[in-house]
Amino acid sequence: VGAGRVEIFEVGPRDGLQNEARAIPTAEKIALVDALSACGFRRIEVASFVSPKWVPQMADGAAVLAGIGRRPGVTYAALAPNLRGYEAAVAAGAGEIAVFVSASEGFSKANLNCTVAESLARLAPIAEAAGRDGTRLRGYVSMAVDCPFDGPTPPGAVARVAAALRDLGCAEVSLGDTVGRATPEGFDAMLAAVLGEMPPDRLAAHCHDTAGRALQVIDAALERGLRVVDAAVGGLGGCPYAPGAAGNVATEAVAAHLAARGFETGLDPEKLAAAAELAQRLRTG
Ligand code: HMG
Ligand code: MG
Repeated sequence: VGAGRVEIFEVGPRDGLQNEARAIPTAEKIALVDALSACGFRRIEVASFVSPKWVPQMADGAAVLAGIGRRPGVTYAALAPNLRGYEAAVAAGAGEIAVFVSASEGFSKANLNCTVAESLARLAPIAEAAGRDGTRLRGYVSMAVDCPFDGPTPPGAVARVAAALRDLGCAEVSLGDTVGRATPEGFDAMLAAVLGEMPPDRLAAHCHDTAGRALQVIDAALERGLRVVDAAVGGLGGCPYAPGAAGNVATEAVAAHLAARGFETGLDPEKLAAAAELAQRLRTG
C-alpha cells in the first residue's frame, strides 16, 4: 500500500521566471508551459498580471496564456495583485487566480507598496468578482516563517492572514517560505497555528530552497497532513522584492523525494527531466 497522493503545484513559469534577468521571449515561456503540460500536473501557474513596472518579466502574461496548448484536465493559473490584474487574468483565460499577502509588514511594503491590512482590503473586490464569476481563488501567505526585513514571523500573524484569505473565499492557502531559510521545526510551529484556522487539505507548502532544507520542510508539512506542495521545475526562481531569496525547490527533486517515500504524484519523471532541462536553457538563452 502506498502512502497516498500528493499534488505538486508547478509554479516554474511564474515564480521561476519572474526573477530571471534575461528578457525571456514569450515563445520560450510557451514552450516551457507546453513541456510541463505533458508531465501530468493538474495545475500550472503560468503568469502574473502585476504591474509591468514592478515585474517586467511577467508583462506578457496574456500572450503566454493565449499561446499555450491547453491540455484537458490541466488548470492554468495566474497571479493578480488587484482587481485590474484579476480581470486581465480571467480575460486571458486563467482558470484559477492566486492572490498574495505578506505575513510581515516589511515585505508587504517592499512587494505590494502597502500595509498588510491595505493589501487584504484590496483583495475584497477580487473576492467579490471571483464569487460572481465562479473563479477558484488561491491565496499565498509570504514570509510565513521568517522575513529579511522584519525577522522571524510570529506564527499567530500567519494564522491571522490565512484566516483572512479563507474569509475572502480562497479555496486553498499556500504558505510561503519566501526566502527559503525555514527549518522544519519553524515551519511546523507555524503550521500548528495555521491549522487552528484551516484544515490541512486546504493548505499548501511553498518552499524556496536557499538553505538546502526544503525537502525536510516539506516532510514536516506532510507530517501535518498537507498534500499540496508548490515547486518550480529546474529549481528556477526567487522573488525580486525578497532579498536573498533563492530558487523554488526543484519539482524534479520533490517528485523523486515523494516517490521514494511511497507517495504518488502522477508525474512522468522522464518528461519532467526534459522540462527541467528546458527550464535551465531558458535561463541562459
Ligand atoms: P504601486 O506602484 O503602489 O501602485 O504598485 P500603482 O497603482 O501606482 O501602480 C503602478 C503602475 O502599475 C501604474 O502604472 C498602474 O497603472 C500599473 P502607471 O500609471 O505608473 O503607468 N498597474 C498595473 N499594470 C498592469 N496590471 C496590473 C496593474 N496594477 C497597477 N494589475 C502594485 C502596486 C500592487 C501594482 C505593485 O506593487 C505590484 O505589481 N506588485 C507585484 C509584485 C510582484 O509581482 N511580486 C512577485 C510576486 S509575489 C511572490 O513571488 C511570492 C510568492 O511566490 C509566495 C512566496 O514565495 O512567498 C507568491
Ligand atoms: Mg515564491
